[in-house]
Amino acid sequence: MRIVVMVSGSGTNLQAVLDAVREGRIDVEIAAVGADKPCLGLERARQAGVETFLVRPSDHADREGWNRALERAVAGYAPDRVLFAGFMRIVDARFVQAFAGRIVNTHPSLLPSFPGAHAVRDALAHGVKVTGVTVHEVVADVDAGPILAQAAVPVLAEDTEARLHERIKAAERELLVDTLGALARSVPVR
Ligand code: GRF
Repeated sequence: MRIVVMVSGSGTNLQAVLDAVREGRIDVEIAAVGADKPCLGLERARQAGVETFLVRPSDHADREGWNRALERAVAGYAPDRVLFAGFMRIVDARFVQAFAGRIVNTHPSLLPSFPGAHAVRDALAHGVKVTGVTVHEVVADVDAGPILAQAAVPVLAEDTEARLHERIKAAERELLVDTLGALARSVPVR
């Protein structure tokens, strides 16, 4: 299974996938890693010898222009799947349509609870005792696509947003690698 990975941040999820691919634990080829801004995730890809690309919103007149440029860049690698691993931009419906049913996102909550950019903070603020991570298919509505896999993470009394997010990310890395492995084998994911 050939994938393009999109990142915006520290790229620890990407690193887990890079490591799993390098160690032959999953039958996945990372064709390229793209980002919307320079970030540690891109650096991790370069370190691993994976091709990278940057499509910045500021280089385009409007959102439409950026979406089409991103679509062209991703399509150029002819991926079987596109993985959003901490990619913090919302793509438009045409982008989703171009890779319909083939875009996978990871989100740090048990969807449909706490969609959006502040999932961990929102879960803490709500006082839930269990939160977690969701790997799901991307549809035009944000954080709303069919769920592929979930893992629960307990919220501890002394948790801060940062501490809780770190534990979620540990579960997220494992779930993401397992889910990609299952998708590559075309078997149902857990
Ligand atoms: C992950 O928890 C992702 O789900 C969220 O932001 C975090 C990105 O972490 N949207 P990283 O860039 O993979 O380290």
